[in-house]
Amino acid sequence: MNFKIRSYHPSDLVSLYRICLLTGDSGSDASNLYKDPDLLGHFYAAPYAVLEPELCFVVTGDGSPCGYILGCRDSVKFFERCENEWFPVLRERYPLPEADDNSHDARIIRLIHEGHKIVDELKDYPAHLHIDLLPVAQGQGLGRKLIQIFTDKLRELKTPALHLQVGKRNTAAIGFYERVGFHLIIEFEYSIAFGMKLT
Ligand SMILES: CC(C)(COP(=O)(O)OP(=O)(O)OC[C@H]1O[C@@H](n2cnc3c(N)ncnc32)[C@H](O)[C@@H]1OP(=O)(O)O)[C@@H](O)C(=O)NCCC(=O)NCCS
Repeated sequence: MNFKIRSYHPSDLVSLYRICLLTGDSGSDASNLYKDPDLLGHFYAAPYAVLEPELCFVVTGDGSPCGYILGCRDSVKFFERCENEWFPVLRERYPLPEADDNSHDARIIRLIHEGHKIVDELKDYPAHLHIDLLPVAQGQGLGRKLIQIFTDKLRELKTPALHLQVGKRNTAAIGFYERVGFHLIIEFEYSIAFGMKLT
């Protein structure tokens, strides 16, 4: 397969939703976990591509999108924009679930209603990212290249540092982040925050 990395184009959006779902269970296919296949993408992929398209890069294999890196340069400002421009319509579309609803769908709908939370320990790392490659594109150096392109862009934008969060179950991604230059910032109950200084 012939892989290329290019800037995001609006026609990629539907593929970002698909890739987000197909890697959404700690790196594995989450299709069977969600009744609504768009929920993961509503929270973890689409708002970044729509609100900060210059920080979204897409991997294509023989022309078809099969991976991405996306994020924001300033998490506080991005979270504010999500409150104003992204979540209101989704909060109407997806009413809060019953308290005893423990489904995966309900978990993401609650996140949509809660919005993003600012974590004090991450304030010195203003940018953040999400990266996902379909299995066909994994293990060939594309993840490392995406991190390089993303951090180059952040340096160009004079962003001092970035962070990311990864679930503790996703041991492969944890190994990857450590290998490509991220350091541990803080460990939460179910996830780990990694960071990288850019200056
Ligand atoms: C995690 C992911 C982004 C890594 O991208 P990738 O293209 O597969 O990784 P690369 O081939 O670029 O590997 C880069 C380096 O990390 C290392 N690496 C990759 N996986 C590793 C692992 N499980 N443990 C240790 N090192 C690992 C590679 O050996 C390579 O080292 P080198 O460049 O020094 O030889 C990709 O596999 C993926 O998208 N997985 C599914 C979705 C996911 O889990 N996303 C993260 C959600 S937080």
